[in-house]
Amino acid sequence: MKAAVLKAFGSPLAIESVPAPALGTGEVIVDVAATRVLAYAKEVFSGERQYLLGLPAIPGPGAVGRVRAVGPDAAHLATGDWVYCDPTVRSRDDVVAPDILLQGWTARSDGSLRLQKHFRHGSFAEQMRVPTENAVRIGTLDEAAAASWCALGTLLVPYGGLAAVKLAAGEAVLINGATGAFGSAGVAVALAMGASRVIATGRNGRALEDLARRFGDRVRTVKMLGNEEDDRARIQRAAPEPIDCVLDLLPPAATASQVRTAVLAVRPHGRVVLMGGVGMSDAGGLDLPYSWLMRNCITLRGQWMYARDAIARMVGLIRAGLVKLDDFHFTTFGLDDANEAVAHAADNAGPFRMTVIRP
Ligand SMILES: NC(=O)c1ccc[n+]([C@@H]2O[C@H](COP(=O)([O-])OP(=O)(O)OC[C@H]3O[C@@H](n4cnc5c(N)ncnc54)[C@H](OP(=O)(O)O)[C@@H]3O)[C@@H](O)[C@H]2O)c1
Repeated sequence: MKAAVLKAFGSPLAIESVPAPALGTGEVIVDVAATRVLAYAKEVFSGERQYLLGLPAIPGPGAVGRVRAVGPDAAHLATGDWVYCDPTVRSRDDVVAPDILLQGWTARSDGSLRLQKHFRHGSFAEQMRVPTENAVRIGTLDEAAAASWCALGTLLVPYGGLAAVKLAAGEAVLINGATGAFGSAGVAVALAMGASRVIATGRNGRALEDLARRFGDRVRTVKMLGNEEDDRARIQRAAPEPIDCVLDLLPPAATASQVRTAVLAVRPHGRVVLMGGVGMSDAGGLDLPYSWLMRNCITLRGQWMYARDAIARMVGLIRAGLVKLDDFHFTTFGLDDANEAVAHAADNAGPFRMTVIRP
């Protein structure tokens, strides 16, 4: 089969013929119909992000495709089913604290690095092999719609955070970094989950205006100017009601102060979820006031990806028309042009924009 192979960090992807994956028990082979290229794929492949991916590898986190073959343990999946290949592979032999591997992308713990030896290759290929539980049925779809269904990968991340802090219908939520790819998807998801209000922060005024125009009165935008206290005061003035939950999705380049601006805006007894890349490059802390956390009974948690049932819920929100895939504008490339796709994704980052490879 044809695949795009990363042989060394800093070298272009090599488009070549490689052996097709072999099916084992507990696994599924999927024909990849479409796979998203993240805006920061270029930083991962250059080595700048220092993601741990054993090379050579076929990169690519997640895909939309059709089941080609199932192992003997498949109880429901059948050949031809449309599935989302969830890149979030978990170690099956530690139910209490499973390691998380992002297949075709990165690993963090010793356990996930061991797992990566087997489930290393990702979706920039005609076929991929995933654990049975990672091929999640998404219902019937038209072949032509496969690219737009790649938005699942973007939508699922903020959904995972909002579900982790149990966002309830009628609550007000602050999305910090709402002008980014995942943050803007977070605005759409929070509204679909029934948030009464979404406070959307960012520095990019045009992107904020676009969010306000797209989503109307339930969204209040606040431009971040870089002074922590002032920015927080403007957030609180923009929110007609106390902020129940905060979701942070800022990138590695953002500072702890930018995160604190949002975190400290949550109401007493509020919940905060951190999902961004902040501190990745310098391993820095947040310096949150101990007594503020304690006296206000604040719940603060991190979230990497999402729970396994999130995919079915997100598909439900899409199928019900509560989240609109039409909101996403996408540009497609063939596998032969994978390097062009990576460059395009970097140059065309931002809200509701996707770069997709169709192998
Ligand atoms: N936890 C998880 O499961 C998970 C999964 C996927 C991704 N992530 C993380 O999510 C982060 C965001 O990804 P993304 O693709 O949405 O990124 P993105 O599109 O670049 O968005 C990040 C946004 O942050 C804002 N920002 C604020 N301060 C910034 C600064 N100093 N430098 C650059 N941007 C700044 C930018 O908007 P303004 O210019 O308007 O401020 C930008 O639009 C990534 O770093 C990634 O590590 C986490």
